[in-house]
Amino acid sequence: MRRRVAAVVLAAGEGTRMRSRTPKVLHRLNGIPMIDYVLNAVGVLRPERTVVVVGRNNSRPIREHLGDDALRFALQNRPLGTANALYSVRKVLKGFDGDLLVLCGDTPLITAETLSLFSIKHRRAGNLLSILSFTATDPTGYGRIIRDSRGRACMIREERDAGRDELNIKEVNSGIYLLSSELLPLLRSIRRNVKKGEYYLTDLLDVACRRGLRASVYRGGDEKEFVGINTKGELLAAQAIIRERTVRSWVEREVEFMDEKRVYIAPDVVIGPGTFVYPDVYLEGGTLIGSGCTIYPNVRIRDCKIGDNVEVRDSSVLEASEVEDNVIIGPFARLRPGSRLSQSVRIGNFVEIKNSSIGEGTKAQHLSYIGDAEVGRDVNIGAGTITCNYDGIRKHKTSVGNGVFVGSDSQLVAPVTVNDGAYIGAGSTITGDVPSGALAVSRCEQRNVKGWVKRRMRKNKKLKTKT
Ligand code: UD1
Ligand code: MG
Repeated sequence: MRRRVAAVVLAAGEGTRMRSRTPKVLHRLNGIPMIDYVLNAVGVLRPERTVVVVGRNNSRPIREHLGDDALRFALQNRPLGTANALYSVRKVLKGFDGDLLVLCGDTPLITAETLSLFSIKHRRAGNLLSILSFTATDPTGYGRIIRDSRGRACMIREERDAGRDELNIKEVNSGIYLLSSELLPLLRSIRRNVKKGEYYLTDLLDVACRRGLRASVYRGGDEKEFVGINTKGELLAAQAIIRERTVRSWVEREVEFMDEKRVYIAPDVVIGPGTFVYPDVYLEGGTLIGSGCTIYPNVRIRDCKIGDNVEVRDSSVLEASEVEDNVIIGPFARLRPGSRLSQSVRIGNFVEIKNSSIGEGTKAQHLSYIGDAEVGRDVNIGAGTITCNYDGIRKHKTSVGNGVFVGSDSQLVAPVTVNDGAYIGAGSTITGDVPSGALAVSRCEQRNVKGWVKRRMRKNKKLKTKT
């Protein structure tokens, strides 16, 4: 039978080594606070309850950020060490009988798979306490796992207390534990470490072994998963790992990158197979990209839904917009929030679209601003067309019907409607509605003055000789 599981995330530490006013676990990796990664990974064990241990100094911002009713918080009054932090959950978990999965809020690279494997081992062995260890290329800063001649681990030695030989040990504590809730009272038997003045959770292993309780230390997989973040340098290193991991996961799903090291993809982004991504592309939160798309260099896309076979050409910025299949955008285009481009639309260089829908097959290829507009299908928006949507106080709507031709350098002064099939002569300022099929021209008629240039030059010459 599946044992009940509650997760406990320790996040009350002072985080002094970060040298920052932001609580350590709220520092962002790839734009997302590190505690969110930990909570995500924990989710796979479907814990009945998840408790986050916060301290007096960081309780407010952490609660504000997490603000989730499904979570509970336990307050550790003073940062007296990891054992003391865990002990502070006893009220919140009163009456809970099962296993506690304990993790540190500062190890965001842990994966759900590793936690599942760890939990299987713990249950199979019928342990009261299991600790996850890993082999560190550089064990500096971690607690060392001390094994006896038979390979049994009964002690973890923190770096500052370790002897010279112990410092050479590469097997270290990941800070991830599974323990029976029955062991909570045992935390009180842990003595305060004299050097640091803290109660170490790592000493629970020694306490359990002395009492003959079933306890094991299991070596986990890739050391990258266990990186504990204590400094800004470690934060940067972890960011690089997460970035690489995200890109790799998309490579496995048939997305192609010209240079895997030079793309930034938020963890919640989804990309379809066969899409090709050039360097220096930022795919930020909330973005869905279809299959067979090409995203050219220097593009930033946030919170957009993009269909299949779409090309987003160089140096374009797309925010909170929807783009259907076979659209071409850019180079140097900007979609501001609320833009909706139907199939096969073309948006060219230096074109800005805001809060507008653009119908199928419509083209706006050069130097235009389309704001608060509804544009039909197969419309040609000439170079330099501008919707004058703002009168200084309010925004107004422009409607352009199907098959309309808007000549270059035209202004459509909103509110205004150009009906189906109408033509706008180049250089016009349109202030009134245009009926279907009509031509609207509003510029002055052209006047040619014969011989004007010659006369002008003669006059200029005379003026020059006088001065
Ligand atoms: C801890 C472990 C170490 C392990 C390493 C893995 C102890 C004594 N040491 O060391 O064996 O190798 O993690 O990354 O446990 N916290 C509290 N309250 C406190 C102190 C800490 O909630 O009073 C929280 C912190 O917010 C943090 C976590 O516990 O999320 C670990 O604390 P930290 O100070 O980072 O411990 P390490 O020195 O990294
Ligand atoms: Mg740490």
